[in-house]
Amino acid sequence: FSAFLTDTFGRRHNYLRISLTEKCNLRCQYCMPEEGVPLTPKANLLTTKEILILSQLFVKEGVNKIRLTGGEPLIRPDVLDIVAQLHQLDGLKSIAITTNGINLARLLPQLQRAGLNAINISLDTLVPAKFEFITRRKGFHKVMEGIHKAIELGFYPVKVNCVVMRGFNEDELLDFVALSEGLPLDVRFIEYMPFDGNKWNFKKMVSYKEMLDMIQQRWPELEKLPEEDCSTSKAFKVPGSRGQISFITSMSEHFCGSCNRLRITADGNLKVCLFGNSEVSLRDHLRAGASEEELLSIIGAAVGRKKEQHAGMFNIAQMKNRPMILIGCFPKFQ
Ligand code: GTP
Ligand code: 5AD
Ligand code: SF4
Repeated sequence: FSAFLTDTFGRRHNYLRISLTEKCNLRCQYCMPEEGVPLTPKANLLTTKEILILSQLFVKEGVNKIRLTGGEPLIRPDVLDIVAQLHQLDGLKSIAITTNGINLARLLPQLQRAGLNAINISLDTLVPAKFEFITRRKGFHKVMEGIHKAIELGFYPVKVNCVVMRGFNEDELLDFVALSEGLPLDVRFIEYMPFDGNKWNFKKMVSYKEMLDMIQQRWPELEKLPEEDCSTSKAFKVPGSRGQISFITSMSEHFCGSCNRLRITADGNLKVCLFGNSEVSLRDHLRAGASEEELLSIIGAAVGRKKEQHAGMFNIAQMKNRPMILIGCFPKFQ
């Protein structure tokens, strides 16, 4: 495995997240402020070609999974083209997308034909009026349509990301679990995380332990599933279900020790940790004509500076970081 992608703690970074855009057709309260965020001028965003050049380089060094994120990746006009070109890269086993699901039903058949093979869809509530409140937009039924389309096309499991916030949706946990009984979904309950401008506060965070407790009261027979390598989530299943549930414990039990992720922001910065604010512009080096070797040494130096773990829950809450929308609608932190 590439020395450039291995850090000083021996972590091998074989999973790259690329943000395709900073724009989104929703305005989730936990992700960005109502007025949106200042956007990078288009000329400063990575072009299709630059995305492909960087992907090729990372795949050559051992990356075997690329996740496209945003903002909302499906609003980038060249998303199909990007997926199709990534599909040509030898050594890339998985091309995944994290989407809010609004445009999914329409685009998914073409995305699948282009080579997309994994899909994560954000959905925080099963009540249309609450969806409108949290996302500040309409669209609940479109997202549900997207989820059903993904199931119909054979994506398995279809992952549903549910950010759990006290006072908003902790009363729906059992309904989400019930959904996973009847459909081949992996419903992933995510601990609410602090980012610039998202009004996080400790009281709104519902911890993994608390969620598990609530669910076990209703389903004492809940079964723990074996842990997958480098997974961000702890998986469980109600016996007899078609699907499963998981918990992403970014706050209460970080998974920095097995972090295998790097991310590239839409404006071309390499970010080695979701909760770290040191970034290096790959775009600028590319545009200045850096050779492959030069790029690799810049990437290697950034990976080499990666910390053993993120700053801890309370420090993260006070840290200056990008709002989530500008990092890559959900990344993996460490
Ligand atoms: P899989 O590849 O399917 O495991 O997806 P994922 O969980 O990595 O990606 P997704 O875009 O679906 O993100 C879901 C949640 O995972 C996010 O809301 C974050 O809470 C968490 N997550 C993703 N990347 C990171 C990361 O680098 N660090 C941490 N701490 N959490 C992350
Ligand atoms: N805390 C936890 N998860 C978040 N996401 C966005 N902002 C936050 C936050 N503050 C989630 C989105 C998406 C995933 C990529 O990240 O819901 O599913
Ligand atoms: Fe858009 Fe995702 Fe942020 Fe919601 S969480 S506003 S869907 S980028």
